[in-house]
Amino acid sequence: MRVKLPFAGLEVEFADRERALQQVLEWSERGTRFPIVVFGPEGCGKTAWLKQSAELLRERGYHVVYVNPLQREFLAHTDVREVAGRFAEILAKASGRVEVELAYAAFNAARELVRLRRKNVAVLVDDAFQVLGSEKEAAFYVKSLLGLIEYPPESYEKIVAVAATSEGLSRREIGRHLWAEILPMWNMPRKGFEELYKQVPGPKPDFEEVWRLTGGNPRVLAQLYEAKWQPEKVVETLAEKKRLTLFAGSLSPEEREWLRQAVEDPDTLFARERIPLMEKLIELNLIVDSVPRRESWLWIDEPPPEKEPDLGIGRRVAWQSPLHREAVRRALKELA
Ligand SMILES: Nc1ncnc2c1ncn2[C@@H]1O[C@H](COP(=O)(O)OP(=O)(O)O)[C@@H](O)[C@H]1O
Ligand SMILES: [Mg+2]
Repeated sequence: MRVKLPFAGLEVEFADRERALQQVLEWSERGTRFPIVVFGPEGCGKTAWLKQSAELLRERGYHVVYVNPLQREFLAHTDVREVAGRFAEILAKASGRVEVELAYAAFNAARELVRLRRKNVAVLVDDAFQVLGSEKEAAFYVKSLLGLIEYPPESYEKIVAVAATSEGLSRREIGRHLWAEILPMWNMPRKGFEELYKQVPGPKPDFEEVWRLTGGNPRVLAQLYEAKWQPEKVVETLAEKKRLTLFAGSLSPEEREWLRQAVEDPDTLFARERIPLMEKLIELNLIVDSVPRRESWLWIDEPPPEKEPDLGIGRRVAWQSPLHREAVRRALKELA
């Protein structure tokens, strides 16, 4: 069953991601040996995919908990009523640590389900690292998921543990340890994205044009729709939110030149002296670094193209979407 998803004030049906769902199906058959940590551009569809995965795992007889601490959201597909009750209790509290508590509640719920001898348990954690305060804590969170797989309180048949994030810095910290399998996910592939595009109502630009602007990023598509298809507006909002003029203004003339080159070709950032600039762009969630080889087993869903200058995709470094890149271009222009 395809889940319904919020989309710019509308409701759409989950589209495509065939391969990513196939991967979840494979995990459901044998469990995940390590927690799977999925990272990808903001708005590329991680949450949508996790929600569809929760449904798929439920259909396969799994007890499933899905938690998004950042959005204060949870789903519990299980006959153990206390699990949902516990989440609701945390959400009802006014405490400022609700987000952190929710992140740990997901882990505790999964542990509890194993303890109660539910054979197949899935724990899907969305946007947890952002609320955990530090990259170190994010890594420890992943380690505790691994602990559940390796040292369960009761014997179980299968555990599926997945955590998704768009946060590039914690990903690195997690990668330093061998506690997880880290897999990137990219924006939607062209054909699947077209399915989603078709669900957007009203008059709209040609698909070709929308693809060029979004690079297959569904959130950028939603923002374009809300902005009545005026890309300048989406670019301006992005630049405002990320305070890009201030950012560009804080750079040295040399760094600004590097940034200009990165707008033309993100791979130029992959040089020793430019790494600090690259880190800032990762922190601002503008680019993704260390983009792996385009072997399908290294990716969730379909890998992006090898190099696609029009969309800002380099071999090793890529702009999260063409409009993310555009927002930087605009900030540079403003300073000139
Ligand atoms: N495969 C998909 N089918 C339909 N809608 C999608 C799909 N992927 C993402 N969306 C929608 O696009 C928007 C951004 O996706 P989201 O999952 O929130 O991205 P992320 O979690 O990676 O930031 C949301 O409105 C979401 O419902
Ligand atoms: Mg999300």
